[in-house]
Amino acid sequence: MIHFILNNKTIKTPEKSGVTLLDFIRENQQLKGTKIGCREGDCGACTVLVGELNNNKISYQSITSCISPLGNAHGKHIVTIEGINLPKKLNSAQEAMSNNYATQCGFCTPGFVVSMTGFALGNDKNKTCNDAVSGNICRCTGYKSIEKAGFEIEEKLLQKDENNKIAWLIQEGFIPNYFEEIPNRIKDLKVEKLNSEETKVANGTDLYVRYADDLSEENIELLSSKKELKNIVFSNGICSIGANATVTNMDESLQLQTLFSKLKQFLKLVSSEQIRNMGTLGGNFVNASPIGDMSIFFLALNSTLTIQHKNGSERTIPFQEFHQDYKKYDLQEDEILTSISFPVPSKNTFFNFEKVSKRTHLDIASVNSAGSITLKNNTVTDAHFSVGGVAAIPKYLFKTGQFLVGKEINNKTIKEAETVLQSEITPISDVRGTSAYKRLLAKQLFFAHFIELFPSKVELQKLIA
Ligand SMILES: Cc1cc2nc3c(=O)[nH]c(=O)nc-3n(C[C@H](O)[C@H](O)[C@H](O)COP(=O)(O)OP(=O)(O)OC[C@H]3O[C@@H](n4cnc5c(N)ncnc54)[C@H](O)[C@@H]3O)c2cc1C
Ligand code: FES
Ligand code: FES
Repeated sequence: MIHFILNNKTIKTPEKSGVTLLDFIRENQQLKGTKIGCREGDCGACTVLVGELNNNKISYQSITSCISPLGNAHGKHIVTIEGINLPKKLNSAQEAMSNNYATQCGFCTPGFVVSMTGFALGNDKNKTCNDAVSGNICRCTGYKSIEKAGFEIEEKLLQKDENNKIAWLIQEGFIPNYFEEIPNRIKDLKVEKLNSEETKVANGTDLYVRYADDLSEENIELLSSKKELKNIVFSNGICSIGANATVTNMDESLQLQTLFSKLKQFLKLVSSEQIRNMGTLGGNFVNASPIGDMSIFFLALNSTLTIQHKNGSERTIPFQEFHQDYKKYDLQEDEILTSISFPVPSKNTFFNFEKVSKRTHLDIASVNSAGSITLKNNTVTDAHFSVGGVAAIPKYLFKTGQFLVGKEINNKTIKEAETVLQSEITPISDVRGTSAYKRLLAKQLFFAHFIELFPSKVELQKLIA
C-alpha cells in the first residue's frame, strides 16, 4: 500500500505505483485545482509540492505531478493548491497574484501559486520568486504582473524567521495551520517496501513524457526510494555523487558550489525549477540523450561510473566509455548506476560549461559543451572536453584534449585544437539545426571556454579571424 499525506489527509492506497500523481489527485481524489496542460512537464499547470523529512527536518520542493509516479509519494507530504488554502481568506501568494492583477483566464494560476508557496517554504537565499516559477507558463496575462506579485512575496519574506520557518509562514498566512503537525504525521506513516515489477524509474521526467500510459498499469521499480544513492561525498581527493541526486541537490551542495564558482549559473540552464527538483543524474546518463546536460558536464570532469549488479557486486568504468551508440550504453538489465565520481579539481584546474538552446531557460540544448583544463606555468598538463548534439552520443573529445596537453594556451593552439575537434564530431541536420550550424556552435562553444577561463591569454577577434 502506498502511504502518504495529501494536503491534510492521510492516504493509504492499493493503486499501482506507476500511476501518475496527477491522475491520482484529480481522478481518485477529485481534487481538480491541479490542472492538466501539456502532460510533459513543460507548462507547470500540474505543479504540486513534495514535503520530505530528512534528519527530522521537513523540506518542500515543487514538482510537475503529470510526469511523477504516485509511488514516489510514499512516505511524503504532497500539497496541491487546495492544501494551501486558508479557511477564510486568500493566502499570501494568492493575495499577491490578486493585488497585481496577475491572473486572467486563471488556468495557469494554481500552478504559479503552488510554485510561489514552494519558494516561500524554500531555503535558498540566492533564488528569486521568478526563478521559482521558471517552469510555469502563462499564455494570457503577460508575465510582468506575475513578476510584480513575485516581488510582493519576496518583500514579505524578508522578515522570515528561518529558525522557525513553518510557524512564521503559518502566522503570515502563506500556509494553513495543519502544516505544523506534518513532520510528526510523516513519522507515523508505515513506509514499507512496495512490490515492484521490472521497469526502473528514478523520478520519471524522461520516462513519463513518453510512456505515462503504459507505466500507469505497472508497479514500477522505484529507484529513488534508495535514499543512500543521493549522497554527495568528498573523500581522498575524489567527489562521489549518488545516481539519485537531482540537479537541485547538486545546486544546493555548498562543497560543489565552492568547487565550481559558477555552478548555479550553469545549472540554471538545465530545464526548470520543477524539473531540476526531479531530474536525477542516473536518469540523465541512462536516458542517453546526445544533449543530456549532466552527461556533458561530467564527461569533462574525467569521471568514473559505479555500477551495481542485483547480486550486490560492483564494477566501475570510465564515464567516457558508458555511451556506446545512439541510446546504447554499457548497462545490463540487472544492473543500476549507483554513483559518479571525479577527481576534485586542483586550484590549477579550470572548468566551464556552455549551452546554446532556442530559448535560454526550460529548453534542451542545440549544442552544449564542457571543458576542464589543468595548467602549470601556462602549459596544459591535462584537458578534457565534451560536446553534445554533434554525434549519436554525448561526445567526449579524446583527441582534442590530448592535442592540448603540453601546449601553451594561446590563440594559435586553440585554433589548431578546434580543427581536431571538428574531426571528432559527426553532427546531423535535424529540428535543432543543420549539421553546418551545429559545427559552428561546437566551434563557438569551444572558443567560449577559453574566452571565459583565460580572458588575458586569448582574443575573440583573433580566434574567429
Ligand atoms: C520539461 C523537461 C525539460 C527537460 N530539460 C532538460 C534539460 O534542459 N537538460 C537535460 O539534460 N535534460 C532535460 N530533461 C530530461 C530529464 O529531465 C533528465 O534527463 C533527467 O535527469 C532524467 O532523470 P529522471 O530521474 O527523471 O529519469 P527517469 O525518467 O526516471 O529515468 C530515465 C531512464 O534512466 C533509467 N535510470 C534512472 N536512474 C537509473 C539508475 N540509477 N540506474 C540505472 N538506470 C537508471 C530509467 O530506468 C530510465 O530508463 C527535461 C525533461 C523535461 C520533462
Ligand atoms: S501538465 Fe504541463 S507540466 Fe504537467
Ligand atoms: S492567466 Fe491565462 S494562462 Fe495564465
